[in-house]
Amino acid sequence: MSHTQATTDKMMELATTLTTQTVRNAVREVGINPNYWYPVTWANQLQPGQILAVTIWQQAIALYRTGNGELYALEDACPHKGVALHKGIVQGNHLACLYHGWEFDGMGECVGVPYLPPTQKLPCAKARSYPVQEKYKLIWLFPGDPALAETRQPPDMPEFDNPDWFMVPVSAKMQAHFSICNENSMDVFHGFLHQNLQGWFDPVLKSLRETENTVCAEYDVSYKGRMAKWLGLSDRANEVTTRTISVQYRYPHYYSFLEGVSTLYLMRLPVGPTQSRSFALFFFKIRLPKWFRRLFEPLLQTILERFVFMRFLNQDIEMMESEQQTYLANPQRRYVEINPAIIAIQRLIVRQFDTPRSKDTGILLTEKIEGEPTI
Ligand code: FES
Ligand SMILES: [Fe+2]
Repeated sequence: MSHTQATTDKMMELATTLTTQTVRNAVREVGINPNYWYPVTWANQLQPGQILAVTIWQQAIALYRTGNGELYALEDACPHKGVALHKGIVQGNHLACLYHGWEFDGMGECVGVPYLPPTQKLPCAKARSYPVQEKYKLIWLFPGDPALAETRQPPDMPEFDNPDWFMVPVSAKMQAHFSICNENSMDVFHGFLHQNLQGWFDPVLKSLRETENTVCAEYDVSYKGRMAKWLGLSDRANEVTTRTISVQYRYPHYYSFLEGVSTLYLMRLPVGPTQSRSFALFFFKIRLPKWFRRLFEPLLQTILERFVFMRFLNQDIEMMESEQQTYLANPQRRYVEINPAIIAIQRLIVRQFDTPRSKDTGILLTEKIEGEPTI
């Protein structure tokens, strides 16, 4: 954490009463704070010698893995004539553009032109390079100031590789601005949507706190049903169990903890103004014999992903995309929100967008933003 962040990380307790507020639309137009690590793909989607085209907030990036497994990320445009570098070929540790074969090293420096006489100097040509790392079976990119990449890290996941926890990876694509997706994740009051899937019900917002780069909400939620029992959420299938869920938006990703029973790390990749992706890792404390897990872990992961999580997620995606379409049809339309947690994350998203533009001064920009909610 930077010094400026630390000094402005003042905790703010927010009211948990549900009161009508007019939503400001500015949040649907803002970009990202690039000075964070964003996941762009599952690590197994990029084998040695392969190149993958990825996009972070409208920046096209060619990601490649050398034969030795090292990762590099270059701007997806050849400095010679602009051909997309992801169409090229991995040659040793370098990436060769497909058009004329100019070769670039992992830092984006031109290190070879196949038709240049050996006596002649290489042209001064450099593609932008991005810090990249592999962690938790994901590949992460840092699209912001490379000098800050070392000072920040992807989320910490102590459950990862811990045999007490069963992990289910889930990813999705949405045709919606990342603020719409983030509001969906914070919005525990939409259990109504999932009632046919035996989701949660009767949520109550218990506490809400906001800092410079986080919004943490605690809700009480109730569960019932066979699936809830199997996942350890309720004690008996036919009885209602109430549990506390903590939902934390630590910009730009989500963490959700359910009383030591399950943990969710939901990483958001903003692709463009109306396009987002998510990479989630769910951890459950399911007690299964070791031999069973060894044999059936991938199968169980697939079943849970397809028949549990994707069913919830597809319902959410339909809502988010509908929200986006209505917004695009008339960006002036006013909306009404009553959950203070949603208002808080809208404020945070706008603030984070403003921070790098104001040169990371650490000055809080929250106080008055145009169209500030009126209570
Ligand atoms: S455009 Fe890439 S080498 Fe010419
Ligand atoms: Fe949902």
